[in-house]
Amino acid sequence: MSVNILGIETSCDETAAAVVRDGREVVSNVIYTQIPTHTLYGGVVPEIASREHVLKINQVIKKALIDAEMTWEDIDAIAVTYGPGLVGPLLIGVSTAKALAYAKNIPLVGVNHIEGHISANYLYDVQKGTDLSAIGTDPVAHAVPTKHVAPPYMCLVASGGHSHIVRVDDYTEYTIIGRTHDDAAGEAFDKVARAIGLGYPGGPKVDKLAREGNPEAIEFPRASVGDSPYDFSFSGIKSAVLNYLNGAEMKHIEVNKADVAASFQMAVIDVLANHTIQAALDYEMKTVALAGGVAANSLLRETMKERAEAKGLTLHCPELIYCTDNGAMIAAAGYHEFMAGRRADLYLNAIPNLKIGER
Ligand code: KG4
Ligand code: ZN
Repeated sequence: MSVNILGIETSCDETAAAVVRDGREVVSNVIYTQIPTHTLYGGVVPEIASREHVLKINQVIKKALIDAEMTWEDIDAIAVTYGPGLVGPLLIGVSTAKALAYAKNIPLVGVNHIEGHISANYLYDVQKGTDLSAIGTDPVAHAVPTKHVAPPYMCLVASGGHSHIVRVDDYTEYTIIGRTHDDAAGEAFDKVARAIGLGYPGGPKVDKLAREGNPEAIEFPRASVGDSPYDFSFSGIKSAVLNYLNGAEMKHIEVNKADVAASFQMAVIDVLANHTIQAALDYEMKTVALAGGVAANSLLRETMKERAEAKGLTLHCPELIYCTDNGAMIAAAGYHEFMAGRRADLYLNAIPNLKIGER
């Protein structure tokens, strides 16, 4: 008997819902992105995000069921992001999920958004088909066939709000090995993009422009932090880029934006990749994985693959669509919480600063 989880995600600027079977098979995945709305303001406006979620959430959930060709009868549990994230947007998802769980008498599971990002590594898309002949059996994942990653592994989580190196000990057990002391990696991409006039969200735009530039044109700092070899600091790199741009402007020197994008991106990726691979080696992990919006970065994926393989490690990356915010990753994480017997009640509340592994 398979277990179908409806995942709901509203922590930032995507209103998303998905149905996932057995924590891995994406049966439907609906994402309404508010990016065009927030682009007008150069970043996410929390009040507007909340209003957009209210307007779209019911339709998004309904479409997730229709696309999955399922009714409420087929859903075993509702998983919802309850933190970390923007409080208003989170509350829309949480209150909708609670209302549905109560009205339809379906169990409710609260999911940590970052644990959701990590769980994107377990997903595969049934619509596109997967070559089952190439797939082994994953003994831990309730005998579900997979060619994907299974714990333990070392995961780099890099998004707009978070940069962590997390040791995934089991499907619901996490240990933080490294963290950022200031900006998140995605935040640095967004700020640098804005400074060179690329607009919001900056990550994909820097990624694209960097392909035309020389990553060695400008030497931006690769910051290490104190005595922790796994921690990050990105504010120094960001400031170095801003100083470089200001300096050039004062001297009336024309800036090669593609070179700035490429050199900045290389500096960030160098640090992300080196720290993650070092953590994997030091903690004797055989597999490394990527998660979060920045995991969609083409150079990060390539660099991590090269450097991981050079050290005899296997790299796993989620498909691009599962790197940025989506409901399927919440359903995947929710599945393992559900199987572990964890349930939320109708007092579930949004926790904007929820930590990994906190319940
Ligand atoms: O995971 P996500 O959708 O939302 C958060 O949980 O924060 O991540 C969004 C972040 C943004 O900062 C965006 O600029 C960055 O991920 N991002 C990228 C790329 N695609 C998205 N950064 C670098 N390269 C990309 N291709
Ligand atoms: Zn996210």
